[in-house]
Amino acid sequence: MIIAIDGPAASGKGTLAKRIAVHYGFRHLDSGLLYRGVGMAVILSGGALHDKSAAIAAAQAYDPGRFPEDDLKSDEVAKAASIVAAIPEVRTALIALQRSFAQSKPGAVIDGRDIGTVIAPEAEVKIYVTATAEERAGRRVRELQGRGGLVDAAAVLADIKARDERDMNRAVAPLKPAPDAVLLDTTYLGIDAAVRAAIDIVEAVRAGRRPA
Ligand code: CDP
Ligand code: CDP
Repeated sequence: MIIAIDGPAASGKGTLAKRIAVHYGFRHLDSGLLYRGVGMAVILSGGALHDKSAAIAAAQAYDPGRFPEDDLKSDEVAKAASIVAAIPEVRTALIALQRSFAQSKPGAVIDGRDIGTVIAPEAEVKIYVTATAEERAGRRVRELQGRGGLVDAAAVLADIKARDERDMNRAVAPLKPAPDAVLLDTTYLGIDAAVRAAIDIVEAVRAGRRPA
């Protein structure tokens, strides 16, 4: 069983994917970490982010254990990830790993941007998670404040919008709902309510019902 969860930054897809995986005893892959790893490698190489050859080399030599997850969580790395993610050869180099993960038994939950459209179009369940850019930026701001930093809320909103714009308008594997994805708007949902709604969707699809 494959559950594909796609959506823009801070829509809550990672939290949902993790909780759904625990609920069903499935394995979980945060595919954003792959692009973040490539972005980080390019930053460390000192090369320009638009230097395609450095990004392609990093993707082709991708090593999941190279960077601790915490080092990949910054907004600087997120921005680098979304720049390298627009390079077709980078995406191609990362396909095999994701497709093989999708075959995990008894099931896999993968979150990202193109899981339901490109990586696993055969997924039994596809959820496209959204929330307004303002709500998503607010979540990011609260997250950063929780770590004790001084936060420029307007800059966080501008960064989120710029990343949405890049992710939705690139030529290869743009962020968009698969035709058979169920939309889940979490703007007014807390985490627990969003998890319940997502599990209801999975149960409905598994039972062959149309989700409410
Ligand atoms: O993976 P993605 O970037 O889509 O989002 P996330 O990392 O799951 O969630 C981003 C932040 O929003 C986290 O701090 C979550 O705790 C929070 N969140 C929320 O406030 N309400 C939700 N319904 C989902 C997530
Ligand atoms: O957690 P958040 O949504 O902020 O970011 P992420 O999921 O870690 O993804 C970082 C960047 O990687 C995104 O802005 C996309 O450009 C890229 N990405 C992608 O192109 N395809 C995926 N399946 C996952 C991430």
